[in-house]
Amino acid sequence: MELTLKSARRSLDEIHAPLAVVGVWGGELSEEGRRLDIQHRGRLSRAMEALHFRGEFGETLLVSLEEGREPGFALLFGLGKKRGVSLETVRQAGARLVREVARLGFREAVAETFLAEKFGKREASYALAEGAFLGGYRWSGYKTEVRRAERLRLWLARSSGPAVARAEVVAEAVNYARNLVNEPPNILTPVELARRAEGMAQELGLQVEVWDEGRIQEAGMGAFYAVAQGSANPPRFIQLTYRPEGPAERVVALVGKGLTFDTGGYSLKPSESQITMKGDMAGAAAVLAAMRAIAKLKPPVEVRAYVAAAENMVSGRAYRVSDVLKSLSGKTIEVLNTDAEGRLTLADAITYADRQGAQAIVELSTLTGACVVALGEKVAGLFANDPRWGREVREAAERAGEKVWPLPLEEEYREMLRSETADLKNTHGRSRSAGAITAALFLSEFTEKPLAHLDIAGPAYSEKEHPLGPAGGTGFGVRTLVELLSRQ
Ligand code: BES
Ligand code: MN
Ligand code: ZN
Repeated sequence: MELTLKSARRSLDEIHAPLAVVGVWGGELSEEGRRLDIQHRGRLSRAMEALHFRGEFGETLLVSLEEGREPGFALLFGLGKKRGVSLETVRQAGARLVREVARLGFREAVAETFLAEKFGKREASYALAEGAFLGGYRWSGYKTEVRRAERLRLWLARSSGPAVARAEVVAEAVNYARNLVNEPPNILTPVELARRAEGMAQELGLQVEVWDEGRIQEAGMGAFYAVAQGSANPPRFIQLTYRPEGPAERVVALVGKGLTFDTGGYSLKPSESQITMKGDMAGAAAVLAAMRAIAKLKPPVEVRAYVAAAENMVSGRAYRVSDVLKSLSGKTIEVLNTDAEGRLTLADAITYADRQGAQAIVELSTLTGACVVALGEKVAGLFANDPRWGREVREAAERAGEKVWPLPLEEEYREMLRSETADLKNTHGRSRSAGAITAALFLSEFTEKPLAHLDIAGPAYSEKEHPLGPAGGTGFGVRTLVELLSRQ
């Protein structure tokens, strides 16, 4: 959908549009709704009574008003019961609202800023606008018969302009990440991912550097290179830097897993498990997208993004089980499973980020199926080697409305990664216990700096439509990163 949001200080009845949207909360019309009701001699309340409209969340009632005058229609939008509402309710209402208004065929409407009395104008405006931009997202896809995108111009009455502007920047970044995840893997190869990062950097004035396979090998990134060597599509190492104009408060590195496709390699995945593996670069997508928003919001922090982009394939050149790799850190790694490839690419990216002078690192990856078993498809696992940094990331996620839950970096399990032949092995081998934790412990071998690892294997990709968007890439993690690096 092509959505234009206009923030207005004026109240609902001072903005002329064919449709006015007002909230119904706890079975009652909002204040703006009551005002509209009085202006239209009780039409809204009469329709509510006649149809026993209670305003369960997402329920709507379209009421026809006087002909020849604007608004010609009112849409009553259910916000649910008084208890249990949160800013997430407002966000989801924004997403539903734009879809519903477009479905009814309106191209212009005015809506009140739902629950502004309860949450404050700024917070409510932000959540409603963010929800609207996220809910209006559609992936264009590759159907030869193109459907024209619906257009909608929506006024938000009595809203905060800066909050709506920020919401647009953040949601646009989330949708950018969604697009990257949704691209098919034959199109979004490591080379193409790097090309897009370069394009974005140029557009937004970020510093960018991309290494090809020769440079990756020369640098000594033996773990990353091994994963990539089986594919005819060469790897790329992508680095983006944002520098604030004034002095930087701190230097934070973002690292994203960038497997543009993960077949599992010789430890081949069954066919059904490969179906979502074009999304194995969702961590990279989140990191690049966050840089996009950061470049526009200009916080006083230096942010550096690193993506080791590769494809995990099978061929006569592919790495195999029992290979011993030399990582950039110097540590040697015995490969017990070629499907535990993400941690190998990340090991070198984390080492590099650390050596380049990061003071703290946040890393996002679709790392383990075990994390999906533990937390399901809605919640990411959070691991941190430093409690303060872990808390900071967790609180940012909470403010951003993304669900993360702490899991332990259990030291007693570290021995599960000890190898007879090398310094480490990449999996525990036959045992399937603590799969998400051992993966996180493996990553923690490559830096002593504060490291927060988000295992987003569950929430990065949605098989079905969800309250904030369609099936496919969700853009999970972008909102948390932006919140962490540029508090509202
Ligand atoms: N990309 C997968 C993890 C994944 C699984 C993401 C399901 C999204 C949905 C990762 O590279 C992987 O294959 N991990 C293995 C690790 C195992 C071999 C130790 C896994 O989780 O099975
Ligand atoms: Mn894998
Ligand atoms: Zn993977």
